[in-house]
Amino acid sequence: MSRDFAMLLEHLRNKTGEVELDLPAASASGDAATTARLARAREVAIRRGDRVAYLYKPVGGHRAPGSNGAAHRPDLATGVTETEGGALAAAGARWIGPAEHAPVSRPYIDRIRVRDFRCIQEVDFPLTPMHALIGPNDSGKSTLLDALAMLSPEAGNPDGEVTVFSEGRALTRRRVSTVEHDSDVAPPLEGGLQHRSPTMMAFVEPSRLLRLDPDAMRQPTNLIAQGEPLEYSERGHGLAAVYDAFLSRRIDVFLEISKRFTELFPTARAIQLTNPSQTAKSLGVALLDGRNIGADRLSEGMLYWLAFAALPYLQPTPLILIEEPENGLHPSRIADVMRVLREVSKTSQIILATHHPLVINELQADEVTILTRTSERGTIATPLSRTKNFEQRSKVYALGELWLNYADGEFESDLVAESTNPSAAG
Ligand SMILES: Nc1ncnc2c1ncn2[C@@H]1O[C@H](COP(=O)(O)OP(=O)(O)OP(=O)(O)O)[C@@H](O)[C@H]1O
Ligand SMILES: [Mg+2]
Repeated sequence: MSRDFAMLLEHLRNKTGEVELDLPAASASGDAATTARLARAREVAIRRGDRVAYLYKPVGGHRAPGSNGAAHRPDLATGVTETEGGALAAAGARWIGPAEHAPVSRPYIDRIRVRDFRCIQEVDFPLTPMHALIGPNDSGKSTLLDALAMLSPEAGNPDGEVTVFSEGRALTRRRVSTVEHDSDVAPPLEGGLQHRSPTMMAFVEPSRLLRLDPDAMRQPTNLIAQGEPLEYSERGHGLAAVYDAFLSRRIDVFLEISKRFTELFPTARAIQLTNPSQTAKSLGVALLDGRNIGADRLSEGMLYWLAFAALPYLQPTPLILIEEPENGLHPSRIADVMRVLREVSKTSQIILATHHPLVINELQADEVTILTRTSERGTIATPLSRTKNFEQRSKVYALGELWLNYADGEFESDLVAESTNPSAAG
């Protein structure tokens, strides 16, 4: 969390200061190469959700003009994250950057607690509109995604208990019961849904879980009927039908994705749709050399990229859970997919499990939680910003590199607190 965030919020709440939000400033330099490098650094910062907050303290109810007509200098200029920017905007801060980058304030799950669910005895940690779970194999990342998917009544009658918190309200699901409440402790649960408020009930709508699989994405699929929502399955089956629907319903979207596709995959001339039968569609690609490539020969990276590029236009869900979005992608394509996910996270909360440092580089520290697991205590959650010596380490490393440098893939002892490490405790 930014050091000044709480103070800024305090000023807004008590109406003792004006806060303006903007993007990180563009740096200028005489030399063209340096200017280009600084512009790229700013692009990355914007994608990651870096914001700048300026605080002005009004004099006699007005912002004091500067000397000789120039704008009044802010009393404080400080970096804040996208999530903090959203909270400041909700409290009345003014956005002065380009409209398309305005921070969005909408309800999201800001804390989760899971009890007695598979390898989890109890975890309780903060979440953000876009959030990554990292940690060794077998530590409970996929289990946590499944726990979140359990909120929907469609999830059957799972074991264990999951509670999600948003702006001080809570919703607990245990077996056949779901109850909304306002304290840490859920009241006795009866069957069905109790005390519903629209905000909290949004979280029980079915979430979208993505474990994309190239073989599923390659399969021919039936068309999506007029008026039916645009969807592909958990594994990506139905992707061709989604692109076919773009062609007939959203040609602007189809053309925009096509353009980006040919920039990223320079041997391709166009995305194609073929008809293996009267009622089915398959994906393909037309190459610059004139050849056409069918779905069974499409590269895996292309398929994964096409699935993520379509995500913003699918039927919206409040929660999107993604397994390893880096799968099959060249390192230089990961940032592009993360840019799509960042955009989608403005309307749907995204929780993802990842093993890739370049995914983490695209995130803020408060957007990453490390899961580790011991046989005695089950899964343990440690926010990245609360790992050992985080302040010093984050000055030297980008977040992905910090993780890579101190992770051992076992108990992550050089990252998580000593008390959670069995070898140090013993
Ligand atoms: N009912 C259960 N009780 C206790 N442990 C269980 C139960 N079901 C599964 N597990 C254990 O939980 C482990 C954690 O699985 P999970 O798939 O969540 O790990 P992960 O962090 O996603 O790993 P990876 O990085 O390899 O995908 C499983 O390997 C399994 O041993
Ligand atoms: Mg997993």
